[in-house]
Amino acid sequence: MPSVSVVVPTFEEARNLPHLIDRLAAVARTERLHLDLAIMDDDSRDGSLELVQSRPEDWVRLVVRTADHGLSQAVLDGLRRATGDVLVCMDADLSHPPEAIPAMLAKLAEGADFVIGSRYAEGGSTAHDWGFLRWINSRVATWLARPLTHVRDPMSGFFALRRQTFEAGRDFNPVGYKIGLELIVKCGCERVVEIPIHFADRRFGVSKLTLKQQLLYLGHLWRLYAFKFGVWTPLVQFLVVGGLGTLVNLLLLTMLTALDVPVRLAVAVSILGAMGTNFALSRRFGAAMAPGLRVSRQLVSYVTATTPGALVNYLATLLALARLPAWPVQGAALLGIAVGTAFNFTASRYLAFKARHVRAGR
Ligand code: GDD
Ligand code: MN
Repeated sequence: MPSVSVVVPTFEEARNLPHLIDRLAAVARTERLHLDLAIMDDDSRDGSLELVQSRPEDWVRLVVRTADHGLSQAVLDGLRRATGDVLVCMDADLSHPPEAIPAMLAKLAEGADFVIGSRYAEGGSTAHDWGFLRWINSRVATWLARPLTHVRDPMSGFFALRRQTFEAGRDFNPVGYKIGLELIVKCGCERVVEIPIHFADRRFGVSKLTLKQQLLYLGHLWRLYAFKFGVWTPLVQFLVVGGLGTLVNLLLLTMLTALDVPVRLAVAVSILGAMGTNFALSRRFGAAMAPGLRVSRQLVSYVTATTPGALVNYLATLLALARLPAWPVQGAALLGIAVGTAFNFTASRYLAFKARHVRAGR
């Protein structure tokens, strides 16, 4: 039997800890597991430390963390210190049943790289009656993670992996709540398996999952995509930047024409607005820009590179407006954007080809 290190991040969970320890102890006893528990507490000062110190179990310890607070940070910290052959991570509030650990170990023994205690796998369930909004939120969050992993519950905070697998991971960037997803991607886990669990409501205290955590998740996803699909990110960036630029263009155009601004001026201002947006976004994402340049230099090279396409866009839009009077002005603008983008794309491909050609000829 492998030795198992259970890592539990906590913040103000003193009332849940005795139950957690008791249930883990029962599992270890019946399954004859060699188990240790590391409680990674972010300096709760709610009696958690005293409680653990007063318990007789020598396989339980509580680490008081006074810096770098956060759920994922605490988990990573615990995983790095753990010595067991298998690492298990779970919540302190008994939402995650310790009794599922033996089934997780069995999956690892069968060759899985990563085992998730899953609410959404066949046979899994949750106690809470989430409102529609929270449900939608959880579904969308899961769906956005689809390109990274096909599991049904990638957000779960209950999972197990071999220490070896964890040690092969690199570039951890723990933000927010989704440390499981981070580990799946960064440790290169291929055989990710789910076992169904019943996710119970917490017994005491309150959840710490906030809106801010949800927003952090979007940034986290972005970085995980970049990590996993390094080659594809320029395309993804192009689509995101272009999509938002198009949105800004259409919004401006709609507003300006509603304000009776002459249509040519409105088209021109909207295109400039979209260029500004695209510039800001490209700078934010970094990859499309030469790094280290000053903003003014970046702006000059950006304007030089995009002005021809913008002009083509402007002319195509005006042409569409003149030739297709039945079209709404937004339709003409979309056509202009398509033509302008195609022009820029072709021109840059042509120039890149020429550059390569010239270099090869030398
Ligand atoms: N050390 C530390 N630092 N622990 C924390 C922190 C923190 O900043 N925030 C929360 N925790 C601990 C809690 O004490 C608990 O043991 C565990 O992390 C989960 O926190 P909850 O506040 O109970 O989260 P939840 O129930 O809303 O969310 C759970 O379900 C989500 C999916 O719906 C967690 O399992 C999430 O990981 C999971 O994504
Ligand atoms: Mn919870």
